[in-house]
Amino acid sequence: MKQNDSVFFRYIYLVTLFLITLTGFGAMPIFKRYYIADIPGFGWLDKFYVTHYMHYFMAIIFIGLIFYAFVRNVVLEKMKVSLSGYIRGIMFSIITISGLFLVIKNLNCCYFSPNIVIILDLIHVSSVMMFLIFALICLIFKLKWKK
Ligand code: HEM
Repeated sequence: MKQNDSVFFRYIYLVTLFLITLTGFGAMPIFKRYYIADIPGFGWLDKFYVTHYMHYFMAIIFIGLIFYAFVRNVVLEKMKVSLSGYIRGIMFSIITISGLFLVIKNLNCCYFSPNIVIILDLIHVSSVMMFLIFALICLIFKLKWKK
């Protein structure tokens, strides 16, 4: 990916990651409990359907960005993926697949037993937490996606 492209891509990727994480945690009643939603301009963080549908919208952008980066770098430019790149790729896949099942769970057509919903939610949130911690480690130790 050319220098300018990758700077632009990186900027969009980081904004998407921030907003998808913010809206994801917005699904939990934490922003009201810890008075974050009381800060002027942050009241929307306490509105479940606002954060819920923003999470869906950010999820579409997130999946689009990941797919674009994979096709552009790995398929077309034959980029050699590093070990930390593979680990992040696997975490993205688990986050996305569990997220897609949670979307299906929210559709009227499909019934998921309460146990399945809890398992899906735990897989989604734990893979998200593992990804965010690992991404921070990669940032600190400058671990690149590319070998
Ligand atoms: C790095 C990306 C992502 C992060 C950080 C993230 C984070 C979260 C968090 C923290 C929750 C709250 C879980 C709970 O209430 O216990 C959540 C819920 C959810 N996420 Fe994600 N998520 C991400 C990607 C996705 C993707 C790609 C999809 C869809 C394909 C998705 C769909 C959902 C759905 C449907 C819910 C449940 C909302 C509900 O019904 O309460 N997420 N996400």
